[in-house]
Amino acid sequence: MDWHEAYKEKITTAAEAVSHIQSGDKVIFADWIGEPPALVEALVQRYEELENVTIIHGMSPGPNKYLEEKYTGHFHHISLFIGPNSRSAYLAGRVDYLGGTNFHNWPDMFAKNPDLNPHWALIQVTPPDENGMCSFGNTCCFTEPAARTAKRIIAQVNPDMPFTGGRLFKLADADYIVEERSPLYVIGRAEPSEKIQKIADYCASLVEDGATIQLGIGALPDAIARNLMNKKDLGVHSETLTEAMMELVQAGVITNKKKTINPGVCIGAQAAGSLEFYKFIDHNPMFQMQPVDYVNDPYIIGQNYKQTSINSCLEVDLQGQVNSETVNGRQYSGIGGQLDHVRGAQISEGGKSIIALNSTAKNDTISKIVPYFQPGNITTVSRYDVDYIVTEYGIAELRYKTVRQRAEALIAIAHPKYRDSLLAKAKEMGLIPVTA
Ligand code: COA
Repeated sequence: MDWHEAYKEKITTAAEAVSHIQSGDKVIFADWIGEPPALVEALVQRYEELENVTIIHGMSPGPNKYLEEKYTGHFHHISLFIGPNSRSAYLAGRVDYLGGTNFHNWPDMFAKNPDLNPHWALIQVTPPDENGMCSFGNTCCFTEPAARTAKRIIAQVNPDMPFTGGRLFKLADADYIVEERSPLYVIGRAEPSEKIQKIADYCASLVEDGATIQLGIGALPDAIARNLMNKKDLGVHSETLTEAMMELVQAGVITNKKKTINPGVCIGAQAAGSLEFYKFIDHNPMFQMQPVDYVNDPYIIGQNYKQTSINSCLEVDLQGQVNSETVNGRQYSGIGGQLDHVRGAQISEGGKSIIALNSTAKNDTISKIVPYFQPGNITTVSRYDVDYIVTEYGIAELRYKTVRQRAEALIAIAHPKYRDSLLAKAKEMGLIPVTA
């Protein structure tokens, strides 16, 4: 039977579906590039009828009308990540940032914190298969847990979404179904600068054959992935699956053969890239999407042999503490899965966690290796969890090192113009003897 016939009582328009949302309700959107455009748009259209609706969302991908000032009083925002599209609304005080909870714990938090326990989940899925099961497409991440926890679900069925295996959604669980084709959010790629290329070369030298990798998005992870073309039998267990991973699969470098958990399969919570990438993962059994409380659970990650995580940060202090989230004492981004993956790599036999960064910011006027963080800046990864720090000047291996060895290793990979002042500060702080 045609699925439209089976679910005809639930199928409606976006406007009718969101008309059931009431003032004071809490609404969670599917994560990041999975946000359902038709439902978000329909909700925004209704703003004048609504007061104090809490919208819980991730790294907002789109035009983000809902963050504009004119919706104040109608919509209140709790953001799980501060990204380029939500930063100004956050700085203007219109967004509460949800800090202080590891990403893999968010599903538990949605269930247990009454302020985050949603009345509604607005999700986006593929059309159902012959068993009435839909795929979450490019983001299962916290979308599946949102649907699991919310009292009611509105599902946008988008025929363009890639069908990815892993955790699926039973269409019968939706309260309202809106069939609407919307363009998928795509993530572009940037060409690496010379500096980024150098960092990528050092990072790639740390990745061993047979390792299972985690990489994020952006020019640096992309350059690192391009540098892995001569490795053998890599596996993937990564919060984000990227287009560069598709190329490594096509080149026969990623085989997932040596994985000790989920062998043969790339595991991810979300997949971000071009339409070509989405086409590649559509019904491709080599890619599986799972919720974030599975993919980012350090004890799951750590079951992989040689799990190698590579992430970036904003600054590192001379103790090896890593700040990936704050600039000038204000939240700049979010923790994402960084700490989860660092800790997973630490648990893994033969695992490595790598934090890679440019040695400077703002045309070499700021050293990203600092003696200590300024007041208000926070530690995302503590010195107890840090393993390798990489800049364009080399690799600092910090695991099992003394405080003096850490400071010396970090000064050696700082930009040369800051090394003397860092050394002087390290001596003043008692990290390195004054006589050294
Ligand atoms: N002081 C002041 N400004 C700084 C700075 C510092 N120490 N470090 C960077 N900046 C500025 C840069 O100059 C740049 O500004 P511009 O946009 O005006 O040029 C901006 O901050 C971004 O810096 P950049 O180094 O280009 O950052 P990025 O885009 O590579 O992102 C993180 C780096 C840390 C923000 C990003 O990786 C992140 O959010 N990480 C946390 C989450 C995570 O790791 N997710 C993946 C795990 S699955």
